[in-house]
Amino acid sequence: MIEIRNLNKTYHLKTGDVKAVQDVSIRIGDGVIYGVIGYSGAGKSTLVRCLNLLEIPDSGSVTLEGTGEITLKGGKPYLDGKVMTPRQQNSMRRGIGMIFQHFNLLDRCTVFENIAYPLRHTGRSRKEITQRVRELLALVSLEDKIDVYPSQLSGGQKQRVAIARALAAEPRVLLSDEATSALDPEATESILVLLQDLNRKLGITIVLITHEMAVIRSIADRVAVMEDGRVVEEGPVYEIFAEPKAEITRKFVSSSLLGKLDRLIAEDSDLVKVQPGEKLVRLMFRKDCVGEHLLTTAARRYGFDLNIILANSEYLRGNPIGGMAGIMSGDRENIEKGIQFLRQNHVSTEVIRDGDADGAACAEPVSVS
Ligand SMILES: Nc1ncnc2c1ncn2[C@@H]1O[C@H](COP(=O)(O)OP(=O)(O)O)[C@@H](O)[C@H]1O
Ligand SMILES: [Mg+2]
Repeated sequence: MIEIRNLNKTYHLKTGDVKAVQDVSIRIGDGVIYGVIGYSGAGKSTLVRCLNLLEIPDSGSVTLEGTGEITLKGGKPYLDGKVMTPRQQNSMRRGIGMIFQHFNLLDRCTVFENIAYPLRHTGRSRKEITQRVRELLALVSLEDKIDVYPSQLSGGQKQRVAIARALAAEPRVLLSDEATSALDPEATESILVLLQDLNRKLGITIVLITHEMAVIRSIADRVAVMEDGRVVEEGPVYEIFAEPKAEITRKFVSSSLLGKLDRLIAEDSDLVKVQPGEKLVRLMFRKDCVGEHLLTTAARRYGFDLNIILANSEYLRGNPIGGMAGIMSGDRENIEKGIQFLRQNHVSTEVIRDGDADGAACAEPVSVS
C-alpha cells in the first residue's frame, strides 16, 4: 500500500514560484495498476519523483509498505521522528523500480550489463547475477538479446530491458513515467500487455503515469486525474469513464471515445455547425443504460430529431461503455425535456453548441450534466 497525504512541492524560480504538486492525497492499494493522467506540466512526474524521494517534497507524508510513514518537514524527510539517513533513503528506493519514456539505458553497455548494473554491490556472486539476469530476460521475453547493445534494439525492446533492470532488485512497486510515450502503437500495446502480465504474475503494484487515456483504459484499475498540481478526480477507471465529473476528465474521456469530435470542432467542420433550433450534444452511455433504447424513447416521447455525427462503443473491464455526438433539432422546450430525460437515465449529456445561444459558433460547452 502507498499512501500519499497532503503532499506539496513548489519550485522557486527567478520568474516566480511553480506549485508543481499541491495538496495531493491518494491511496494506492497493493497489487493494483494505478494510473495518473494529466496534460504536460500537470505535475505527474514531480509527484512520482516525490514518491521515491528523488525529489524532496516540501510537506505532507508518504507511507510505503516495508518502510513506514515518511513525513516531510522543512524540506527534509523524517522516518520515526528522525531525519532519514542516506542509507535509509537508498533502501527505500530499492523497493521501488522506475521506467521512463526514454529508457535511460547505458548505451556503451550490453543488455546483460545494463540489467546487472543494479545488482552490483548486493553481495551476489557473478554466477548468481548471471542467473538473475537470465530470469529477468525471460520475464520480458528477451533471452536472445543478452549480449547485444541498446543501439541494436527497437524502442519496445529497449523498454523491455529497462523493465528488466527496474525489476532486478525485486521491488514491490514499479513507477512508469510515460514509458510508452515514445513508442509506436504496436510496441505500446506489447509493453502494456507486459506490464499487466508482470502485475498479475509478480503481484507488483504499478503506478502508471501518462497523458493518454488509451493507456489508462487499456490496463489501469484506478486513475487519478491531475491538473495544475492537484488531483481533480479519482476513482475506478470504469466509473471515471462512465461519469467523468471534472471538465478536464471529460476532455480526456471524450477524446478517447470520440477522438474525432474535438478535431471537427477545431476545424469548424460543416458537420458540427448548428442552426437556430439545433444543439450539438455529446452523450456518454454506461453499462446500465447502453442497450436500452433510451435515445429512441426520448426522441419519440419528446418529438425531437437526432442526427448522429459520431458514435463509438466498447468494453471496459468487461462492461460496455459508449459515446455519441449528434445534432438535436426540433422544438426548444422538447429538446430540453429530452435532455432532462436522458440525464435522469444516467446518460451523461453535454451541450457543446447551442444554435439559440449568443455566439452560437462558440466551441465551449455551455451546459453539462
Ligand atoms: N526541476 C524543476 N525545476 C523547476 N520547475 C520544475 C522542475 N520540474 C518540474 N518543474 C515544473 O513543475 C511543473 C510540473 O512539471 P512535471 O511534474 O514535469 O509535469 P508533468 O510530468 O505532468 O508534465 C511544470 O510547470 C514544470 O515546469
Ligand atoms: Mg512528466
